[in-house]
Amino acid sequence: MSRSREELTKALSRWRSGGERIVLVPTMGALHEGHLTLVHAARRHGDRVVASIFVNPTQFAPNEDFDAYPRDEEADLGALRRAGCDLAYLPAPAEMYPSGDETRVVPGALAEPLEGASRPGFFTGVCTVVAKLFGQVRPDTAVFGEKDYQQLLVVQRMAADLALGVKVVGVPTVREPDGLALSSRNRYLSPPERRIAARLPETLGKVAGRVRGSVATDTALAQGLQDLRTAGFEPDYLELRRRDDLSPLPPRALRRDELQAARLFVAAKLGRTRLIDNVPLAE
Ligand code: PAJ
Repeated sequence: MSRSREELTKALSRWRSGGERIVLVPTMGALHEGHLTLVHAARRHGDRVVASIFVNPTQFAPNEDFDAYPRDEEADLGALRRAGCDLAYLPAPAEMYPSGDETRVVPGALAEPLEGASRPGFFTGVCTVVAKLFGQVRPDTAVFGEKDYQQLLVVQRMAADLALGVKVVGVPTVREPDGLALSSRNRYLSPPERRIAARLPETLGKVAGRVRGSVATDTALAQGLQDLRTAGFEPDYLELRRRDDLSPLPPRALRRDELQAARLFVAAKLGRTRLIDNVPLAE
């Protein structure tokens, strides 16, 4: 475990001088099997795994859950140790945002739709903190979950555009047996809400099935939104986008090549909890 930059740097330079490749797994803590799967995947990409835990204030809007965001340091550190993480980095806020800090990393068009439209400033907060973590850890590789697919693309693009020299790799979403994607925010759900929550991935599956069965995308998406509202969700968006650049797809039945390139994205509130998910269109 390491709280200061100094301790981190010491461990890193020891490893680097031994020629070891370093992999970073950035998190905000409240760790679950999804995060731990990233740690396991990280092991395959290098010799030493560093996981960071930092609840990043700049990616939360004033009306969001920064103060209430679940924090469980003790449990997180135990879980990381058992997953084979070599070093947990838990920087203090002043380490990430020293006084006088004023620079922000503003992403481009990839960050505009979906989460970017629903949460203005979110990806600027994410890119800024991830760029700082990349600067501090200087990993060879960093691992991100497809659960936050747009975040994965935005960070990949940032690393390429700013020539950060970090390879950014994605790991498929880890789900509960009923299909709900694991998320730190699932613990906000009441037992009845938790039962309803499984209808989110179920709806994605249904919409994807209809589009694969040549239903026009506008019809399938309208039906999906209706299904979500009937189940008790308040949807933010349900959209089909190309998986490589998040550009929209046409409002008609899709050709085979369009199906292959498409991903389906959803964000919806269930009570006070906002859930997001996404799936590839092709099976
Ligand atoms: P957090 O929500 O803690 O997620 C950390 C990493 O775990 C992200 O890459 C996310 O995509 C991945 N993850 C979460 N749930 C997952 C699941 N069910 N299956 C697979 N991967 C999953 O995402 C963030 O933190 C922050 O924005 C961060 C990148 C740390 C910057 O502050």
